[in-house]
Amino acid sequence: MENIKKLGIMGGTFNPIHYAHLLSSNYVLEKFNLDKIIFIPTGEPPHKKDINIVSAEHRYNMTKLAIEDNDNFFISDIEIKRKKTTYTIDTLKELKAIYGDDVELYFITGTDTINQVYSWKEPEEIFKLTKFIVTTRPNYVLDDNTKDLVLKHKDKIYFCETPMLEISSTNIRKRIAQEKMVTYLLPKNVESYIYENNLYKIDFFKKYEKELNMLKNSLTEKRFNHSIQVAKEAKSLAIEHKEDIEKAFLSGLLHDCCKCFTKEEIYKAKDKYNFKLDDVLEKQLDLAHSFLGYYVAKDVYNIEDENMLNSIKYHTTGRANMSKLEKIIYIADYIEPTRAYFEGLYEARELAYKDLDKAMEYILKNTIDFNEKKGRIIHPLSKEAYSYYKN
Ligand SMILES: [Fe+2]
Ligand SMILES: [Fe+2]
Repeated sequence: MENIKKLGIMGGTFNPIHYAHLLSSNYVLEKFNLDKIIFIPTGEPPHKKDINIVSAEHRYNMTKLAIEDNDNFFISDIEIKRKKTTYTIDTLKELKAIYGDDVELYFITGTDTINQVYSWKEPEEIFKLTKFIVTTRPNYVLDDNTKDLVLKHKDKIYFCETPMLEISSTNIRKRIAQEKMVTYLLPKNVESYIYENNLYKIDFFKKYEKELNMLKNSLTEKRFNHSIQVAKEAKSLAIEHKEDIEKAFLSGLLHDCCKCFTKEEIYKAKDKYNFKLDDVLEKQLDLAHSFLGYYVAKDVYNIEDENMLNSIKYHTTGRANMSKLEKIIYIADYIEPTRAYFEGLYEARELAYKDLDKAMEYILKNTIDFNEKKGRIIHPLSKEAYSYYKN
């Protein structure tokens, strides 16, 4: 590397790297007149395998792609190559060895990290080897810990206000798992790399191929497609509200498994499973598909989890005090992305990702109003559910 006097160090997991990393790096480079910034992806976590962190090789490749059009940025694999636990002190020593003792190192970090330096290995030695540039939001007020640290290490800690984009790797990973767009959050080539290598994706279609085929044979094409959409929506809601993702997917997939039963098939199934149709179900036979779904999911699809079975059972009527999974399936059925527009759909979608109980209240009210207008009888379970979620 040619003569570098001031070298910025940008370390991180970069899981994945995104525009906020790049923008703040560039700000720091400009403001502190750095010659270059070296991006150093961290190695594999030594002990616990964190399933959310993709391999060092992928993180290295993504970082490389992200900075390829900037001559002031370059990448290093020194932390990845080090097979043991990596410490900042080792990295700093290695950089001094490579670029010479005269190179001035500027370790770029955030406000949270700077306060942790004293929990790192050999903190005093670290302050001898590098300066710190702490990126902050505009008008950020230092807390007492940081003030003490700055007093102790005058001329070693600098602050740099950078425009803070509301972008985080966590959020990008979540969006990809939810099959939402991440365009404009990270460079296009990184986005493509993620898709090409199937990173951060959560997909159960392979695992449940058998169930999918069975379902396909027992539903109309339209109903089958709807089931897939409900499965995906339920998965996405489960990610948002921290429910079991796989259970949500599978319950969503099977929720309408009896929806295409003929009248004869409904009567046959109710006898087979010893299920008694109440007055409302007797008059509105279509509602029975969710109750029979409970038995068919158990008997034909071998679902044993009572919570999953109940989420299928109550997806048409709802009930008071539903489990999180029950709410997710009920709501996913209502808001899945291919639903044709009706009044209240967008509001329901919005609420679903904010507050499941509020979404329940909203959807129950809409559904009850709609059915009353159509002259249908409202199932007592729905009335109970509505009065429960209203309060
Ligand atoms: Fe249904
Ligand atoms: Fe449905």
